[in-house]
Amino acid sequence: MCGIIGYTTRKNNSVEITLNGLKNLEYRGYDSSGIALFNGDKIDIIKSKGKISNLDEKLKQHDTTSCCSIAHTRWATHGEPNETNAHPHHVGKVTLVHNGIIENYATLKEELKAKGYKFQTETDTEVAAAYIDYCYSQTNDKLKALVEACKKFRGSYAFNVLFEDEPTTIYATRKDSPLVIGYSHDGNFAASDISAILNYTNKYSLINEGEFVKITRDIVTFYDKDLHQIEKKSETATWDAAQYQKNGYDHFMLKEIYEQPKVINDIFDRFYNNCSYKDIDLTKYEKIHIVACGSAMHASLVGKYLLQTYGKIPVMVEIASEYRYSEELITPSTLLIVVSQSGETADTLAALRLAKEKGAYVVGIVNAVGSTIAREVDKCIYTYAGPEIAVATTKGYTSQVAVFATLALIAMEEKGLLTDEMSKTIKEDLTNVEKNINSVLENREKYLDIAKDIYKHNDLFFIGRGIDSSVCMEGSLKLKEISYMHSESYSAGELKHGTISLIDKGTPVISIATDDKLFEKTVSNIKETKARGSYSIFVTTQNHGDDFSEFADKTILLPKTTDFTQPILTVVALQLIAYETAKLRGCDIDKPRNLAKSVTVE
Ligand code: F6R
Repeated sequence: MCGIIGYTTRKNNSVEITLNGLKNLEYRGYDSSGIALFNGDKIDIIKSKGKISNLDEKLKQHDTTSCCSIAHTRWATHGEPNETNAHPHHVGKVTLVHNGIIENYATLKEELKAKGYKFQTETDTEVAAAYIDYCYSQTNDKLKALVEACKKFRGSYAFNVLFEDEPTTIYATRKDSPLVIGYSHDGNFAASDISAILNYTNKYSLINEGEFVKITRDIVTFYDKDLHQIEKKSETATWDAAQYQKNGYDHFMLKEIYEQPKVINDIFDRFYNNCSYKDIDLTKYEKIHIVACGSAMHASLVGKYLLQTYGKIPVMVEIASEYRYSEELITPSTLLIVVSQSGETADTLAALRLAKEKGAYVVGIVNAVGSTIAREVDKCIYTYAGPEIAVATTKGYTSQVAVFATLALIAMEEKGLLTDEMSKTIKEDLTNVEKNINSVLENREKYLDIAKDIYKHNDLFFIGRGIDSSVCMEGSLKLKEISYMHSESYSAGELKHGTISLIDKGTPVISIATDDKLFEKTVSNIKETKARGSYSIFVTTQNHGDDFSEFADKTILLPKTTDFTQPILTVVALQLIAYETAKLRGCDIDKPRNLAKSVTVE
């Protein structure tokens, strides 16, 4: 949540470059933004409510010649998203931007008030600025002031800090929030992620927890927590700036939906050709715990189905914000799999740290290369889906499902459960996945047609059984988050235990039946809703025929594949229904209200 960037340069264009970088971080939060720039030896601060484009407009009325600036795009935690609460915050000699939460800010605020500090905002960040200023007044040493202040802060932070008496230098540090240092020809950066700087450089270094950095336009110096200077090697980013463009698509979400055939095919290709995780011994553990949030948790439920049904390994899936407080579940013989697109989600990270503390072995399924979760797990399986910019995940989710499919295959191999015939059928399926997803993506009209039927409704239901019931959860979340339509996802057999009372004349019900052995049962449940007047949208596979007029008003037919790819094909159809519906409702598809892509607070 929140994106920060700082840039110090030998030229006078730091504002333009900082602002361009900030735009690439807007997915992290977008309720207000602001920039602080050195104007000679004084610092100017310009802030604006709403999206960065508002700040951009405002900056046109200012002299923005500057060789050093820091900027912020906010997802509000403390205080409403107005201009006053927007970052940067300035107290005494200190101006800073912050991504994270200072949990003990209220206590520190009282302490500082007693010392004479006055506060203008409701934010925890202003308190952090005041505390650093106070420590600076005591030590007269900027790095020491930062170290001392950070010892006091509880919570998470990535800071870019300016001191009024040292124009052109940025100080930075982080704990539980990401920050990378970038090196360009004309100067140096500190930013929440590499996307902010890729237009200017692909050379970067990662800052570890508790390290401190002094950044001037000529040199970057790293220190450990005791302020001993440390050496860092620079790395070269493999993602390029073009991947951060819409490339002709109306939205990043649509572009990312259409990237799925290749992303998924690449995962299966790597699995057969140079798999780096076949050595994980899944059979050694009595039970596997899988922990994640949101869509990653939904992907984990599909993973559970595959690992249990085919790998015959008991699996427990838990939401990370609950698991992190369930230490009694974890023992040294636990295998924990954490799943995260961003690799920064605070609750998932906390769950992984707890499990490691308890001696468990932790595997990560992660997209963002070099992210905190990727670095802290015992073994990281990268999905390599490329940057995902739309706040609602699509290829992030399906790539996690694809990795679970490969893990289930590994478990089957290890347990001798994979017969030659099964192996052949599954391999054929995985080899055809690109073609099959492409066929679901063809003829977008049919999804638009369904969207036209449902977009004026306020409530909608998704029902399915078995693996389809997990996919329903993801379809429902996709629709809710981008179209703001309320929807619920139910196991089809559960509906009659209460929820069916909500089905009325015209209530849309999207039902999914791709599992042959559960087909008849699901159809019975659909008929139960139809009898109460539902508007029935039926998603099934081609092997069941094409006339479902008895109980379906609209039908989507998917290619019939194995369970190892079927959920991917199904969810792609649901992603497109959600996308077209949100578009008809005039929603901001890539940046839905109240959300942020990377959830680095608890
Ligand atoms: C929904 C969505 C979220 C994320 C969740 C976990 O479209 O994107 O539900 O799946 O916040 O994020 P990661 O995977 O980054 O840990």
